[in-house]
Amino acid sequence: MTPETFDAAKVDTMIDKYGNDPSSLILVMQDIQSEYRFLPHEALAYLGEQLDVPMSRIYNVATFYKTFSLQPKGKHLVHVCMGTACHVRGAKRILDELSRALDTKPGDTTPDGEITLETVNCVGACALGPIMVVDGKAHGVTVSSAKEILADCKHD
Ligand code: FES
Repeated sequence: MTPETFDAAKVDTMIDKYGNDPSSLILVMQDIQSEYRFLPHEALAYLGEQLDVPMSRIYNVATFYKTFSLQPKGKHLVHVCMGTACHVRGAKRILDELSRALDTKPGDTTPDGEITLETVNCVGACALGPIMVVDGKAHGVTVSSAKEILADCKHD
């Protein structure tokens, strides 16, 4: 399992932080997502046992919120905004160029596990668009600056 092996003690620490109660479910899932960059099945199964929450409910939560992922994410998250304002300013071309440069489709992660490329709909910085968000930081970009930011990100 990437990037780290499931560690029950780590999940126990997360549970202790919020309380061993079914109402802590989403908070602990957020911590698991942040620790592993996705929700490993083993961690969810362990969490379900500890909080006495059925797996069906856990998977409902995991698939309902976009912030959760059941697939491993890359070390770096790259989002291209495809909202209307960014779209009319050339976001599609930015996305196509990044997709080509990474040899990865939107929604996928590079085989080396470094970068996940995704789309997002408006991050509230329309005037600066097209917008590319790298690890939570928004940049107004051109095709060439987007590729430069990507190159910098790969060297981190
Ligand atoms: S449409 Fe891209 S930031 Fe609003």
